[in-house]
Amino acid sequence: MPQPSPKPRSAIALGFAAAMLAAVPAMAEDDDDNDDTGRLEYMYSCSACHGESARGDGPVARYLNVDTPGLTTLTRENDGEFPLYKVVQIIDGRSGVGAHGTIMPVWGARFMPQALAEGGHFRAEVIVRGRILSIAHYLESVQD
Ligand code: HEC
Repeated sequence: MPQPSPKPRSAIALGFAAAMLAAVPAMAEDDDDNDDTGRLEYMYSCSACHGESARGDGPVARYLNVDTPGLTTLTRENDGEFPLYKVVQIIDGRSGVGAHGTIMPVWGARFMPQALAEGGHFRAEVIVRGRILSIAHYLESVQD
């Protein structure tokens, strides 16, 4: 299998990659705590852009040419009810019109290879949705 080229095309790409890597060790500490799954998933997959406090101020955000939204006002913006289904759809990104815009990674697809390795063909989708749901529940718990 060909290795992905390690050569970034620009300084922006280099800065982006460096910031993504820098964000990883922060959450690697206690990942044996099962009750903490959603928070750890968030710190690992989302905080680089959306920030550890989910206020849109992650280290990668400054390299993006769009605003990275904060995620602690989703309930307030939805008349006091956390929009769980919508958030799940946005994170998954595999369906829905413009669900993930231009920047948001398609997590439903990203989580799939590991899920296939862990659970095989029949359980993979359940594993992927479980990971996404745990992140959504974590976000629900940090609403303003
Ligand atoms: C590479 C940076 C990046 C990463 C990593 C990222 N996001 Fe995003 N996210 C964005 C940007 C930028 C937007 C604004 C829409 C767009 O341009 O894609 C967004 C939009 C969203 C929205 C919609 C917010 C709203 O107000 O409508 C949600 C929810 C969201 N992201 C959740 C997540 C979660 C959960 C993760 C981790 C699983 C994640 N994002 C990872 C950059 C990122």
